[in-house]
Amino acid sequence: MATKIIIQGGKPLYGNIAISGMKNAALPILFATILVGGTCTLNNIPEVDDIATSLEILHQMGAVVRHRKNGTVSIDTAHIKQGTSPASLVKQMRGSTYLLGAELGRFGKADVGHPGGCDFGTRPLDQHMKGFEALGAHVENEGGYIRLTSPNGLHGSSVYFDVASVGATVNVILASVFAEGTTVIDNAAREPHIVDLANFLNSCGANITGAGTPMIKVRGVSELHGCDYTIIPDMIEAGTYMVAAAATGGCVRIDSIIPKHVETITAKLCEMGVSVEELDDAVIVRREGDLKNVNIKTLFYPGFPTDMHPQFAPLLCMADGVSCLQEGIFENRFRYVDELCKMGASIRVDGRTATYYGNTRLKGAPVDAMDLRAGAALVVAGLAAEGVTEIGGVQYIKRGYDDIVGKLRAVGADIKEVTVREQDSVKKAN
Ligand code: EPU
Repeated sequence: MATKIIIQGGKPLYGNIAISGMKNAALPILFATILVGGTCTLNNIPEVDDIATSLEILHQMGAVVRHRKNGTVSIDTAHIKQGTSPASLVKQMRGSTYLLGAELGRFGKADVGHPGGCDFGTRPLDQHMKGFEALGAHVENEGGYIRLTSPNGLHGSSVYFDVASVGATVNVILASVFAEGTTVIDNAAREPHIVDLANFLNSCGANITGAGTPMIKVRGVSELHGCDYTIIPDMIEAGTYMVAAAATGGCVRIDSIIPKHVETITAKLCEMGVSVEELDDAVIVRREGDLKNVNIKTLFYPGFPTDMHPQFAPLLCMADGVSCLQEGIFENRFRYVDELCKMGASIRVDGRTATYYGNTRLKGAPVDAMDLRAGAALVVAGLAAEGVTEIGGVQYIKRGYDDIVGKLRAVGADIKEVTVREQDSVKKAN
């Protein structure tokens, strides 16, 4: 059996959508609980598959995980066992790389299978390893596992990243919390989820300063204690619904967010002629006129986020005129292009740049999500298109969107999730 999302498009969206906690903040914080060796209570944990996989990994390693009401989870890592993460789950997601920094930080060694995650071309871990080595760790790759040891302990050091990698910044923070002395991370990632991780660890007794700037200092402490912490709202989930409102020509209030985190998305929508009203913890997105063409370049935060690139593509196809998008972070984030072309789009990709020939009236079609945000792009396209869009590869979308079908239905979308026999979907695909 396979799951599909079916959308009868062309209906403007009206109403309110409440945003869940941020997947990419919750993932490092969940693995950071390994360092605590006690109980943490985490609020605003999104119900998405990557989080469920992470909690299952922690459970299988010996953590006691309790789900409480409304997105609250308590995790006791007192009896967690080093080197016991199941490789079959680790390879399902990218966030599992954080096991390396967390195990190394707590136990002085780590054995973790190679991580998976969305396929955007090569996703090297060289900056993570450079950081671990600077702290005094030895790195070995053996039998499908990454093994880290630190026979002489971990010592604070200076690490300069060649790229401001989110994952490497998280991992070096995790590995250095207990390291002797001070670790300085230069050219660190500045994303809000890095700040959230530092705030969480500081609430547990760590000494981290500079998170949110390119230079982070971690002064080693001897122990951490549990805490009660609330994860920040998901700016990419918020951005996706902002784009959905603009694509359908509706008016949606996106609630429970930090408007500053979506500023670049707001700016691009305004450039396209969409009205975005900023409130304290919400934005109201309204589109009345035609969409204007724009150019976009994805960059590290605070630049335009690569995780919003695919969702903007349907808007660029519908805009008045030609738009260009240059992908500055990942070499291949264009895996939605063939699918949008099945819906009538005209897009040409040349290396890391795509050209969108606008004025397209998207038409519903059977399409397949190839990764998480590409899947979200197809949902946006399906909502705006004439006719019925049938989206396969729903498992990718569920990795990062909490109840996407329910949230969109509540604002008037004609969208449902159905289970079909594999042979029926294969027949259609042929
Ligand atoms: N890079 C290196 N060497 C490294 C690490 C990264 O060259 O050692 C390069 C990558 O190849 C890429 C760039 O640096 O070109 C940025 O990669 P980064 O390490 O920042 O990405 P990541 O940590 O693997 C996280 C998110 C992604 C998001 C990126 C960029 C998680 C679990 N994943 O990935 O989220 O796209 O940062 O912001 O936090 C998503 O949610 O859809 C998603 C893919």
